Parts: sequence; C-alpha cells; structure tokens
Amino acid sequence: MIPKVYGIIVFMHVLSAVLSIGPLFILMPLIKRLRSVGTNVEGAYLSIINVIIRLVMHAGHALVFTGVSLLIIGPWPWYTSWVILTVFVMGVSAFFLATGFTRVLRNFNKAGMNKNDILDRLNRTSWLYIGLMILMLWLMVEKPMFW
Ligand code: HEM
Repeated sequence: MIPKVYGIIVFMHVLSAVLSIGPLFILMPLIKRLRSVGTNVEGAYLSIINVIIRLVMHAGHALVFTGVSLLIIGPWPWYTSWVILTVFVMGVSAFFLATGFTRVLRNFNKAGMNKNDILDRLNRTSWLYIGLMILMLWLMVEKPMFW
C-alpha cells in the first residue's frame, strides 16, 4: 500500500516541479514584448505575468508539500545531504519569488518608475529563479551525498 502511495506522491511532486519551472519560460518573451507596447495593452501583459507568477507560486507550495510528505512516509531521512541542500535553496528561491516578483509588479503601477529598469529586474529575477530551480532539480535527481 505505502509503496504505491509513495509512487503517486513522487509523480505529483514531479508534476508540481514541472509546473513551477515551465511557466517561467513564457515570461521571457512577454517581458521582451512589454518593452515596446503602449500603456493601453500593458495591463493585459501584466495580468498574464501575474497569472504565471501565481501559478508558479501555487505549484511551489505543492512541491514543498509533496516533498515533505515523501520525507515523512518514505525511506529518506530529513538530514540526507541532498534533502538539506534542496530545502536551503528552496528557502532562497521563495525569498526571490516572494520579494523579487511581487515588488516588481507593484512598482509597475507606481508613478516615476522607469519601465525598462523594472523589466530588466524582472528578467534577472526570472533567470536567477530558473537557475535555482535547475540546481534543485539536479540535487533531487542525482541525489549527491556530500556527508
Ligand atoms: C522542500 C523541498 C523538497 C523536498 C523535501 C523534496 C523531497 C523529495 C523526496 C523525498 C523525493 C523522493 C526521492 C526518491 O524516493 O527517489 C523527491 C523526488 C524528486 N524531487 Fe523533490 N523535494 C523538494 C523539492 C524539489 C524541487 C524544488 C524540485 C525541482 C526543482 C524537486 C524535484 C524532484 C524530482 C524530479 C524527483 C524525482 C527524482 C527521482 O525519482 O529520482 N523536488 N523529492
């Protein structure tokens, strides 16, 4: 019974990993286009970016929830090196996503903010986040034992 449940949760965990990385790649072309559109269509682009960030955030929560469930019912103890490193990097990424992305979106509606500066920042934050996610993907799949 438990091995089957474990398999289902691993699948849900991998699915939430896909959903928390994949949508970010749609951000890049949107950011590029947002630079050249007028204020009338800017709102439409921003709401799509908002939806993407929300989706990534929800998937991130599912990722942590399923990951912790796997630790509870599975064979890996929490102090395994790749688990501790992933949890640490996850904390750093949550910080970037929560502060970086939401602050960028808030700044967009503030008067006197330079649109290109905000978009540069959004682009940088997205790449940094993708980099951290890929690092965690490697830790999860390779499971390196550092200690
Ligand atoms: C709080 C954070 C996390 C915890 C506690 C956690 C925990 C786990 C555990 C216990 C497994 C099962 C390993 C096995 O039995 O083979 C697993 C598998 C996996 N995790 Fe995570 N995880 C976390 C975050 C992540 C993140 C951020 C990603 C992707 C970016 C990710 C991607 C994967 C993948 C692809 C697998 C399948 C690997 C395999 O079967 O070889 N996990 N995770």
